[in-house]
Amino acid sequence: MTTAATKSIIAPALRAASVHVRSSVLPASISKSCAAHLSSVPPGGKATLPDLPYDYAALSPVISAETMELHHTKHHNAYVTNLNIALEKLDSAVSAGDVSSIIGLQGALKFNGGGHLNHALFWENLCAKGSVAFPTSGPLKDCIAARFGDVDNMKKEMSALCVGVQGSGWGWLGYDAKTGRIEIRTCPNQDPLEATTGLVPLLGIDVWEHAYYVDYRNVRPNYVNAIWDVINWTKVEERLVAAK
Ligand SMILES: [Fe+2]
Repeated sequence: MTTAATKSIIAPALRAASVHVRSSVLPASISKSCAAHLSSVPPGGKATLPDLPYDYAALSPVISAETMELHHTKHHNAYVTNLNIALEKLDSAVSAGDVSSIIGLQGALKFNGGGHLNHALFWENLCAKGSVAFPTSGPLKDCIAARFGDVDNMKKEMSALCVGVQGSGWGWLGYDAKTGRIEIRTCPNQDPLEATTGLVPLLGIDVWEHAYYVDYRNVRPNYVNAIWDVINWTKVEERLVAAK
């Protein structure tokens, strides 16, 4: 809650973003990044951990309740906590016109902001096994067919890229507004898809070890092959329709 007694990010942020961030000594890309971060902080002044749209056990046995609880309450929560710390520092740095500190915070903002955004998308594009089938008609089926032939080919291609991510990262199905086509990309670390590639995220697969190690140990291919059973295709299609 934001009260007069607690530190508020949003009000000074908006003021600062309009006054200080346009400083001619700040690179344009960082100026834009600061304004975006600060102006996107939700009402209440801080980013918050979203509730899952299902119970921790809902995706079992594909993803266990233990993995889901750890992933949500420890890993995602850490990104939220560290994003808020970085935003508070950014707010102070912007208000003070401290260009060096503003630039120095970009890595923490990208990593923790991306981690928060990616996981919020991820939870929503999962659902209980067998609860949502791939659509037999409609825009998602048509787009997948145009680009990959059929959904099985898409899964095969995306699975191979996810398995091949070196170290930690994500696989994404994204919409390219310029071509009107669906594409597959991988991103390292917590780099957010849209900010780094321009593609609108439709479906993300977290291939950090924390997403599968409890259930699949080091065998990432088994996790990637299994996760197709818990994809919420309705949500994926909703994102596609919104992106068009
Ligand atoms: Fe994760």
